[in-house]
Parts: sequence; C-alpha cells; structure tokens
Amino acid sequence: MDGSALRSRGQGGALWGDIGFNLGVASRLVVLTGAGVSADAGLPTFRGKDGLWEGRNVQEVATPEAWAWEPEVVWRFYQERRQRLTEVEPNPAHRALAELEARLDEAGVGFCLITQNVDDLHARAGSAPIHIHGEIAVLRCEICGEKVRDLDHLDPEAFVPCPECGHGAMRPDVVWFGEMPYRIEDVFRQVGSATVFLAAGTSGVVYPAAGLLQLARDGGAKTLVNSLDEPENLSGEDEFLPGRAAEVLPDLCERLAQEVGA
Ligand code: OAD
Repeated sequence: MDGSALRSRGQGGALWGDIGFNLGVASRLVVLTGAGVSADAGLPTFRGKDGLWEGRNVQEVATPEAWAWEPEVVWRFYQERRQRLTEVEPNPAHRALAELEARLDEAGVGFCLITQNVDDLHARAGSAPIHIHGEIAVLRCEICGEKVRDLDHLDPEAFVPCPECGHGAMRPDVVWFGEMPYRIEDVFRQVGSATVFLAAGTSGVVYPAAGLLQLARDGGAKTLVNSLDEPENLSGEDEFLPGRAAEVLPDLCERLAQEVGA
C-alpha cells in the first residue's frame, strides 16, 4: 500500500449559467463518474440515505479484513449488488456520455471516461471506461489470479470456486479500502492533461479518486461538477451543476459537443 491506496476522509461553486466551455480541437475532456450517475438507474449510492447495508457502512464491508474474517457477510453484500446489476439498465446519463465520446472522437477531440462505479452500465451504454475500483461482474481468484466475468452464480449463500485452480471462494474483482486502485498512473496522466474535467455523481470523499478534481485544477483544466449535494472536494473555481445526473448530463454533453462542432 502507498499514498494512492483507497482511503476515505471526512463552498459553493458558481451556478450553471450561460457558460462557454472554451473547448477547441486541441481539447481533452476527462470525465470521472461516481455512484450518483448510476443512482438514477436504481443502484444505491454508498453514502446516501440508502447508504447503509444491514446497519453497516461500506467501509466495514469493503475491506480485505472483512473478507478474511467474515467472508459470508462480504459475499452476501456483493451478491446482492451483482443480482441487482441484472435487473437495471443504463440511464440517460450513461447514454449521453457514450454518445459524447463518439461525437468527440469523430471531431478529433480527446476523451477519457474514468469511473469509480463497479457496475457495468457505462459499458452497456457503449463506453469503455477505466474502472479504477474494479467491477462486480468480474470474479478474481486470490490464489492463482484467474479472472472470470460471471453474473450467472448469484446465490448469496454460495461461494464461487475458481475454475482454474479450484480455490473455494473467488472474490469480487473490486478495489477495497487499503488496496490500490487500478490503472492509477494512467488516470493521473489522463487527468493531468485534461483541458476540461467533469466529475459527476461522486461525494468526493474517497481518495485517490477525490483528488483528481484538484489535479485537474492544478493542470489548468476547466472543472465542472455535477451532483445532487455539493461534494466535499468542491471549490469556488469549479462550475457546480446541481441536479440528477440523468437530467443534467444529457444537456451538458450536448453543449460540450456543440462547443467543438461535433
Ligand atoms: P457516494 O455514495 O459516496 O456519493 C454519491 C454522490 O452522488 C453524492 O454526492 C450524491 O449527492 C450524488 N448523487 C446521488 N444521486 C445522484 C443523482 N441522481 N445524480 C447526481 N448525483 C447524485 O459515491 P462515490 O463518490 O462514487 O468504492 O463513492 C466513492 C467510492 O466509495 C465508491 O466507488 C465505492 C465506495 O467505497 C468501492 O466500492 C471500491
């Protein structure tokens, strides 16, 4: 573990007016999404009013220690979420981001989607995000490293054995507190070179992801933030766009695309 391992910590911005994003063909748009973007699809956020699970908060369940001491509790938590994934669909925010990427790509504008979400809704909408916190649709063997995409075995009481080495219980391929997020160096590079950075549906409390907004500001990017509540890491320099992602993002993505004539 180092300074980039997953950890938590505990002003208002400008209102969304008639703003220009100053995009150009040399632009590079980087988007970071969090649980709020999938909330409108019916997936619970981690820190909202529905954030507790069986009276526990996520930091008690999403740890290697919990998996070691109470694997059946951790497994039930993730199996419920894996089951839920089979019952939901991408919402207009997921679709707007996928469409924006296609349009910017055509216009030669760089785009990168980074998500903290462990669901697969961006992918189902047509995006290929960097999943910095992994994916619950994927199971990983801690013994041999085998990974399988599996949403067939959803019994909350039954562990899934590794098809490769036979180990009795694969874990969800997600990043737990104290573990290193995936592709973090790549993510730092992407955000550091952004000219426009959008953070959507994230409370800004889980690091290193919550530090990306500051990294973008430091690099001179225009920073846009959408969330229901003001995130912890919001600053007066950011353009705060309050509201539901499924309502705010389609319009915002259209404006961003129009800025570059895409
Ligand atoms: P949180 O649950 O911490 O925060 C969700 C944010 O979304 C809050 O700021 C809400 O105000 C906002 N929100 C809720 N509904 C919304 C909506 N319909 N539209 C827009 N915003 C909405 O979720 P994250 O910041 O994503 O890690 O949590 C970060 C990490 O904490 C997660 O990736 C997870 C957890 O530990 C892992 O699972 C590894």
